[in-house]
Amino acid sequence: APGAQEFIPPQADTIDELRAAATGCRGCELYRNASQTVFGRGDESARVVLVGEQPGDMEDQKGLPFVGPAGRLLRKAVDDAGIDPGHIYLTNAVKHFRFELRGKRRIHQTPDRVHITACRPWLVAEFARLHPEIVVVLGATAAKALLGPTFRVTKQRGELLPWPAAAQHPEDFTRVPVDSAGAVADAPETRLLATIHPSAVLRADNHDVAYDGLVADLKVAARALR
Ligand code: URA
Ligand code: SF4
Repeated sequence: APGAQEFIPPQADTIDELRAAATGCRGCELYRNASQTVFGRGDESARVVLVGEQPGDMEDQKGLPFVGPAGRLLRKAVDDAGIDPGHIYLTNAVKHFRFELRGKRRIHQTPDRVHITACRPWLVAEFARLHPEIVVVLGATAAKALLGPTFRVTKQRGELLPWPAAAQHPEDFTRVPVDSAGAVADAPETRLLATIHPSAVLRADNHDVAYDGLVADLKVAARALR
């Protein structure tokens, strides 16, 4: 598979232009069985950007990220942490739903490394057009995409980490902030925080403990906002 890079128009300035181009991506096999590309959405000037794994069943049908049960839980956790859910940008490490058919049921399958790598150029392109203060990495797949295969969410969740030094290929994420006059702006540095995926809260034996842990991590992000 060629990867997503060749599907990204270099002249695409905005997230909307990227989203339009991503509808035709065939950078890996996942476009074949999924219904549609599910690109990031939300406030493009958001101070908080959250990165999930891949669209779920509901997201695949609606074409929007985080509109199913995990998304509902995530927005509530964001709100409970004191971050305005109306001013966030939500995206995923992989933009097509990977699943296995069991009878008529579509069962979620975790994306493999090949899918994460193939789809990563879209994530890089999004970050080149966003300017968050905090990037929240939700679960192991997003952590692999942004922090490399050795990062362990369970060991480092809730810690504020530097960005782009924290990223696997920092050069991909170097952004030169430019103000409306075209001058290089003195923008605050972006930082990164990893936590568990909202789906892990839905699956947890002790839901309340898992939920409180997610909110506690998001509060670290909220307190770090300038
Ligand atoms: N889980 C994710 O990681 N992303 C979504 O968009 C929905 C569920
Ligand atoms: Fe392209 Fe990503 Fe979809 Fe693969 S998962 S086809 S790389 S958008």
